[in-house]
Amino acid sequence: MNRMTDRALTVLGIETSCDETAAAVVRRAADGRAEVLSSVVASQAEHTPYGGVVPELAARAHVEIVDGATRQALAQAGVGFDGLDGVAATAGPGLIGGVMVGLSFAKAAALARGLPLVAVNHLEGHAVSARLAAEAPYAFLLLLVSGGHCQLLTVEGPGACTRLGSTIDDAAGEAFDKTAKVLGLGYPGGPALERLAQAGDPDRYPLPRALLGRAGFDFSFSGLKTAAARIAMSEVVTEQDRADLAAAVQAAIARQLSERSERAMAAYAEEHAHRLFVVAGGVAANGTVRRVLEETAARRGFAFLAPPLKYCTDNAAMIALAGAERLALGQVSGLDVAARPRWPLDERRALSDPTHKAGRKGAKA
Ligand code: KG4
Ligand code: ZN
Repeated sequence: MNRMTDRALTVLGIETSCDETAAAVVRRAADGRAEVLSSVVASQAEHTPYGGVVPELAARAHVEIVDGATRQALAQAGVGFDGLDGVAATAGPGLIGGVMVGLSFAKAAALARGLPLVAVNHLEGHAVSARLAAEAPYAFLLLLVSGGHCQLLTVEGPGACTRLGSTIDDAAGEAFDKTAKVLGLGYPGGPALERLAQAGDPDRYPLPRALLGRAGFDFSFSGLKTAAARIAMSEVVTEQDRADLAAAVQAAIARQLSERSERAMAAYAEEHAHRLFVVAGGVAANGTVRRVLEETAARRGFAFLAPPLKYCTDNAAMIALAGAERLALGQVSGLDVAARPRWPLDERRALSDPTHKAGRKGAKA
């Protein structure tokens, strides 16, 4: 073990991989426990008129915001650059222009202040996000569900992930966002769709149940998305119709996440005595998804953990913690480390599995 593990580490985290410019300061105690000293998230309003994130606009907004967000995070934490042990930044996967902004900013800060730099995989940030507010000892089974990703992984330690399965087409967040769009709910649609679904009947519209009962741990949401869009255009007229479709889509997504996770729990339990199931990523902010997964975990004898809502969606506290865990192991990056638009957590699996190539959807999703 590296000598750095026996003392507390205070790390600045920077996150710019999509449309949130975020900066945070996290202290990791010698025993591994995390304390969030500050977490600043500036969501960009530039994209609202376009119904989705415009990469070039996002990159420009990150340039304008990242400096102020970092100052704010340091001030709220009551920590100066002198009080830091390292700087961590998302180096991928994500929209490359934005990733380059945050990573370059972190490199400059590390160089100017003589601090170690840690290039963090955004997905590894989500993987540790539950550890920001609760004890989640390694190893655990992780369902990572966000706007760009949907995968089941075993997480044995910092960066030691094995992918069991992932979506073969869209991510769960995309199914939420695209259904929200056809219902005229704006972007990002997940939270708005959840609100609309509260008044809806989830059993009114039958939707396809992809991969139900099929072996393996993969997901598929494109059929559901297409069916929902067809219903939205042909049958949805009243406000009640809209609420019923929202509720049906939400229930169908939760059902598939539950069914696939339950299969993974059965396999995981064969090899692990300590049974902990963690769900992370933006879609983990959904109340129905959380409730259904908690019930599934209980049925299988797994402890259940989901991060507080503010750490489900993109934030820099999770990047700072992932960086601190790497730093504690003495794993730092050179200043020549490159930003990566695609960067699968389990690179070995991504390279060897022909159904999950590092293509547009495969390794990213
Ligand atoms: O983790 P995240 O902030 O960004 C990615 O790394 O993709 O996840 C964003 C996704 C979006 O698709 C958004 O609609 C979805 O998470 N989301 C939700 C909710 N809050 C965010 N989906 C359903 N219900 C929610 N309450
Ligand atoms: Zn994310």
